Amino acid sequence: MNSLQFLYMMIIKVRSNLWLPHTLVYCVLIIYLKVEGASDQVAITTIEGAVAKGAVCLDGSPPAYQFDAGFGEGVNNWLVHIQGGGWCNSVNDCRTRTYSPYGSSKRMKSSDYNFTGILSNKQELNPSFYNWNRVAMRYCDGSSFTGDIEAVDPATNLHFRGARVFNAIIEELLGKGMKSASNALLSGSSAGGLASILHCDKFKALFPSSTRIKCFSDAGYFAHVTDLSGEYKFEGYYDQVVTLHGSSKNLYRECTSIMKPSLCIYPQFTMPYVQTPVFISHLKKH
Ligand SMILES: *[C@@H]1O[C@H](CO)[C@@H](O)[C@H](O)[C@H]1NC(C)=O
Repeated sequence: MNSLQFLYMMIIKVRSNLWLPHTLVYCVLIIYLKVEGASDQVAITTIEGAVAKGAVCLDGSPPAYQFDAGFGEGVNNWLVHIQGGGWCNSVNDCRTRTYSPYGSSKRMKSSDYNFTGILSNKQELNPSFYNWNRVAMRYCDGSSFTGDIEAVDPATNLHFRGARVFNAIIEELLGKGMKSASNALLSGSSAGGLASILHCDKFKALFPSSTRIKCFSDAGYFAHVTDLSGEYKFEGYYDQVVTLHGSSKNLYRECTSIMKPSLCIYPQFTMPYVQTPVFISHLKKH
C-alpha cells in the first residue's frame, strides 16, 4: 500500500468510526515493515585507495562492497558473495553500464542489494551462514571480474579492470580479518556465480593452508551447448567479452593453452583444472 492509499483508508476509517484501532494497527505494521526492511540493508564501502592501483569500475570509480560482521560461533567464518548482472560485450554496451550501479560505484545504493537469502543474518532464513562475516562484492566491470587492460581510451574513459577490482576487494577483506578465517566460502549468482568458479583457486591461494576454502556457484554454470537454432550463437558473445576486456590472461592457463581462450569462460572447459571444491546449484522454476 502506498501513502496515498493509506490516506484514503484513513479517511474511510474516520467516517466509519473505526479510525483509532485501525490507525494504530497500520502504524505498528508500517514501523515493523520499515525495521524489517532496514535490517536487510548494509552500507556500501568504497575502496578509494584502489584507484591508484588502477583497480576501478568501468567509469574509473573505486571498487565497492557491503560488509556485515559475523557474530557468535560465526565470527571466524567468512562468506564472500559475488553479485551478478550479465556482461558487456561492446564499447557502447559498457558505456551504458557506467550510468548504472553495474558500471559505477557512484551510482550504487545499499538498497540495490539487500542482504537476503544466503546473505541474511536471520537464522530461520539462512541457517548455515547467518552468523558468518558476510560480504557482497558489488559488480561494476561487466566481465565477471576477468578484465585487465592497462590502456584507457580518453574518448570513452572506459576502464576494463574487473580482475583488479576482485583483487582489491579480497585484499581489503583479508586485512579486515578474513586472513585468519577458519572457513571461507566464495559464492556468487549468475555472472557472479561464474566468477566464483573462475576465481576459486586464486581465492584459496591467498589463505594459509589451515583455512578451509570452498566455492559455490548459483546459476553460474553457463553451458556450451547448441541453442534452438542448432548453433553455438552465445560463443560469439563471449568472444567479444573476452577480447574487449582482455580477459584471456585471467582465465585458466591449462585451458587457454589448448583451446580458444573465450571457451575457457565456460565452466565445463575450466572446471577440470579447478582444484578447490566447487558446489554447483541450478534451480529451475516451473
Ligand atoms: C531493498 O529493501 C528496500 C527496503 O525494504 C526496498 O525498498 C528495496 O526495493 C529492496 N531492494 C531490492 C533490490 O530488492
